[in-house]
Amino acid sequence: MKTALITGVTGQDGSYLAEFLLSKGYAVHGTIRRSSVDYRERIAHLEGTPNFHLHYADMGDSMSMMQVVGKVRPDEIYNLAAQSHVQVSFDSPEFTADVDATGVLRVLEAVRLCGLEKSCRIYQASTSELYGKVEEVPQNENTPFHPYSPYAVAKLYGFWIVKEYREAYNMFCCSGILFNHESERRGETFVTRKITLAAARIAQGKQDKLYLGNLSSLRDWGYAKDYVECMWKILQHDTPEDFVIATGEQHSVREFCYYAFKRAGIELEFKGEGAEEKGIDKATGRVLVEVSPDFYRPTDVVNLWGDPTKAKKLLGWDPSKMTSFEELVNLMVDADMAKVAVERASDHVRTNLAEYLEKGIVK
Ligand code: NAP
Ligand code: GDD
Repeated sequence: MKTALITGVTGQDGSYLAEFLLSKGYAVHGTIRRSSVDYRERIAHLEGTPNFHLHYADMGDSMSMMQVVGKVRPDEIYNLAAQSHVQVSFDSPEFTADVDATGVLRVLEAVRLCGLEKSCRIYQASTSELYGKVEEVPQNENTPFHPYSPYAVAKLYGFWIVKEYREAYNMFCCSGILFNHESERRGETFVTRKITLAAARIAQGKQDKLYLGNLSSLRDWGYAKDYVECMWKILQHDTPEDFVIATGEQHSVREFCYYAFKRAGIELEFKGEGAEEKGIDKATGRVLVEVSPDFYRPTDVVNLWGDPTKAKKLLGWDPSKMTSFEELVNLMVDADMAKVAVERASDHVRTNLAEYLEKGIVK
């Protein structure tokens, strides 16, 4: 039985990856953080499963990382833990650097200091944000990086330190340069989930309006459940290499919004430009979507589009067999329609708080 350690097992990707590895017969160990509310929504269904184990560790704490790596002695590590919100990285740049940059070094050093550098394979959750202010469209493994947020700069360190340890110490460590991937488990302040939740609430009369930032931003969006299999495939490849994982399709935030509301039974038409643009319910003339500059970023990445040719050739990644853009939007809206239907007022307050924090209304 192989043993895997997942940092960030409570996150969107960590929870799907844990399910995937358990289904492959792995013993799965995950790291968790102490929080005042012990409610691990995404992995609650796995707790108590044989071969699924949790350990306290923090990416900012080398000793905890050493301890867990030394105790578990994993065959594979999936380093997914990160402060993963780009906008938040502008407010907490030092924390983001510590967790997303130095944190990667802590994992690599823990493996070396535990004497596992020859046996343990390491996957690093890298990101299309490295391309940032893009220098080429679409982006592949040879496209120059131009990080454009504190988050991306931190992740760039993670990418290069993984490459350095591969070359300096001959370790099997690789980065998956993953483009955006979403799901019904996506955090509620990322744009896709914010839209699908709002569409469901507006359709059920529980919210009046949705405020967004840059509607023209373009992303290559896939389904998280499809992407975690690629993380595993990257570590099963004969040689340690970095891979772009993407669908090869691009859509705007506006388009995502249009399809999400359509699935919720509302046809939107967009009128106006920039901060004056509005999404209007065609049937009633009500304004349901407005732009709020509070959600603009100091520097925004607006043109991500992945070229996954290498992953197609070497890993058998076939986006045409994966969840399509429209299927992704539909499954997210359907899940949120069901969730909102049984939502208590307090759940809504919780989400509003997250949004107000993001917007700077509550500090
Ligand atoms: P996510 O849902 O935000 O999950 C992040 C995970 O990291 C959570 O388990 C979180 O724990 C944990 N974490 C945060 N700070 C930590 C710390 N100081 N110590 C230990 N654990 C910490 O993110 P995701 O969407 O699953 O993404 C997984 C990884 O892939 C991240 O590294 C992200 O940057 C990267 N990535 C994501 C995408 C995407 O589109 N989803 C694309 C490219 C790369 P808590 O639950 O306790 O907060
Ligand atoms: N969050 C958010 N909220 N984004 C908005 C909003 C809004 O109200 N309105 C427009 N956007 C735009 C952002 O400006 C950005 O251009 C785009 O929507 C996507 O934003 P997010 O969903 O927050 O994701 P992200 O692309 O910045 O980052 C995600 O994907 C990266 C991979 O490219 C995260 O998962 C990162 O961890 C990941 O590395």
